[in-house]
Amino acid sequence: MLREAVEWLATSSLSFARRSGHLSEFVAIAARRRRHRVAWAPHEERSKAAVLRAADRAETSGIAVILGAGHLNDVPLRALSERFATIRLVDVAFAPATRRVARTLGNVTCVRHDVTESLPDLAEITAPSFLRDDADVRFVASVNLLSQLAVVATRQMDDVRADAVGRALIEAHLAWLRRLPCPAALVFDRSIEILGPSGTVISRLDPLKGAELPEPDETWIWDIAPRGEIDVDHSVRHIVAAIDDLTCA
Ligand SMILES: C[S@@+](CC[C@H](N)C(=O)[O-])C[C@H]1O[C@@H](n2cnc3c(N)ncnc32)[C@H](O)[C@@H]1O
Repeated sequence: MLREAVEWLATSSLSFARRSGHLSEFVAIAARRRRHRVAWAPHEERSKAAVLRAADRAETSGIAVILGAGHLNDVPLRALSERFATIRLVDVAFAPATRRVARTLGNVTCVRHDVTESLPDLAEITAPSFLRDDADVRFVASVNLLSQLAVVATRQMDDVRADAVGRALIEAHLAWLRRLPCPAALVFDRSIEILGPSGTVISRLDPLKGAELPEPDETWIWDIAPRGEIDVDHSVRHIVAAIDDLTCA
């Protein structure tokens, strides 16, 4: 807890993120990952490989943008920084370690930005304007971000409103990615499965709140909460999917 409190203080974030719970969630994800580093490793490697495969479709000069860069655990940053002239990491918050890595690589910048452009008040949810007119952007990847757009933003709402607002945020992000003038890769949670004591799936949740996506290029399992994280009888896994280029899917 003490470590998380220090990280909360040391992390650079958009000011609303300190009040909205986004920064607390950002710090909590890092703590969860410390507890389940081994279980998460296959997912992180698959995410990195999917981003690199998608990046093969892009012209290598110019700028690559990683949305939801977070703690960089699922982002092949070094390989991307060798391939593109500039990398822009986008998130509502950046830990000191991420800013240090960016400085060391030299062609990486950390951009604190709300990709929905609707937070925190959610008065109007529309496709954001960010990057749309940036002719130097050659590749964009949204990495394990899509379902997170709904999670924190709708936490205080009743279920019906949370599902409607969550779906609107997700669909706006997808519409915005589809209209980008460069390949737009997406790595996202497609389904959440809760497993009971015998290891069989006892419940499935839709993290996309009904939003529809094209068939993915690849799927895999992320053991996000092995038994013991929630309780001794249950575990949670995500079915993760990758689409190499949403602009032509
Ligand atoms: C599940 S994490 C992604 C994992 C991350 N790539 C990593 O390796 O740590 C989701 C990330 O999306 C970010 N995020 C959530 N909502 C966002 C928003 N509206 N705009 C920008 N980033 C957001 C979170 O801060 C978090 O870092």
